[in-house]
Amino acid sequence: MQLQLKVNGKPVTADVPPNTLLVQLLREHLQLTGTHVGCDTAQCGACTVLVQSDGGESRAIKSCNVLAAQMQGAEVTTIEGIAAADGTMHPMQAAFKDAHGLQCGFCTPGMVLSSIDLLAQHPQASEAEIRELLEGNICRCTGYQNIVKAVQQAQQAMA
Ligand code: FES
Ligand code: FES
Repeated sequence: MQLQLKVNGKPVTADVPPNTLLVQLLREHLQLTGTHVGCDTAQCGACTVLVQSDGGESRAIKSCNVLAAQMQGAEVTTIEGIAAADGTMHPMQAAFKDAHGLQCGFCTPGMVLSSIDLLAQHPQASEAEIRELLEGNICRCTGYQNIVKAVQQAQQAMA
């Protein structure tokens, strides 16, 4: 089927089988491999991207859990699309770097995008709320402490 959407601000046309998952469209058809696959069962959050559809607000979704066909006309933002045009990191990326919010980096694209959504929805989130709201994203390395610190640092930078 023929799909038209925007990915990272650019119009994209793709011809994909109807059962193509959004994560497959991103990784296999558009070569946007910053979106990771950790489980394929909507548990780990490594595949998280931001989606804006029907002129609504941008929200984080697990791209292994939706069909690409559902993205007709939507705007999808992946980890490749959040830095400024001159390469300056998004404040959330900078905070993860500064606060050592990553080790192997496998969960990081999903964590960063979920954290952007978290602060957009809950700009005043407490530490406990940050921990609770990120529970859909699993990290096998960090113990989460520095991830929470990174989100708090970004919270101050973006206030
Ligand atoms: Fe999508 Fe794990 S790969 S939630
Ligand atoms: Fe390795 Fe999170 S940094 S899984």
